[in-house]
Amino acid sequence: METFDPETFGLLNAHDYDERNDPGTTEAEVALIQEIAGSGDVLELAIGTGRVAVPLAQAGVNISGIEASQPMVDKLREKPAGRDIPVVIGDIAEVSIDGMFDHIFLVFNTLFNLQTQREQIRCFENVSKRLREKGTFLVSAFVPDFNAFQSHQRVGIRQMRQDSVWLDACQHDPVDQILEFQRIHLKEDGLRLVPLRLRYVWPSEMDLMARLAGLRLKSRWGGWDRSEFDAASKMHVSVFEKAHA
Ligand SMILES: C[S@@+](CC[C@H](N)C(=O)[O-])C[C@H]1O[C@@H](n2cnc3c(N)ncnc32)[C@H](O)[C@@H]1O
Repeated sequence: METFDPETFGLLNAHDYDERNDPGTTEAEVALIQEIAGSGDVLELAIGTGRVAVPLAQAGVNISGIEASQPMVDKLREKPAGRDIPVVIGDIAEVSIDGMFDHIFLVFNTLFNLQTQREQIRCFENVSKRLREKGTFLVSAFVPDFNAFQSHQRVGIRQMRQDSVWLDACQHDPVDQILEFQRIHLKEDGLRLVPLRLRYVWPSEMDLMARLAGLRLKSRWGGWDRSEFDAASKMHVSVFEKAHA
């Protein structure tokens, strides 16, 4: 696949992101993040259209965001509670924003949008620099699962309706830990392709990235309901805290 730079996701997805990307956990995500954030200053990395940030702002959380894609931020600004959320257009690997924060979060597998291990480590390091003492960094991501793959490939149905189908074609590069997707929407009147390229990270590798950045794992759950994280978990919600010097 050609390069997948920080702005590519928004160019391909912004116009119908909210209709197509409801993970069904938004309420639970907001509740847990709100509980962790309390009255502190909060930063969402890759704020997108504000799926999580808008309800947090409505609940009175003092939230700011960083986002690479202006079209995604334009969608955020269409929502009344999203108009006044401070957002810096920038790269989540750099975290170039003024101020210090009590809580930073990066949800919906978006750490994996950073295309190399080096960029992902840079993200952890720069988050650590922006966290106040006792500050926390929450990351949610899927746990890679290759059961359905054959010869490093799989094709599956994502959504089927009477007049259309979304198919997911995926290729796995286990050396660089890359998943290349082509989301294919087939309808009677045409075809749409929505590519996505992710560099996945194992939970154990994430813990090492955190350690390199002076952070350590505080909690890890297998879901937004704080269920136990175990070998059957499909995703994890991990909270890192600034390690004492
Ligand atoms: C899956 S969406 C998540 C949006 C939002 N956090 C949510 O949970 O709905 C991924 C977001 O990451 C943004 N993004 C991807 N790479 C980025 C980067 N390097 N820096 C900043 N934003 C990036 C995309 O533009 C998109 O808004």
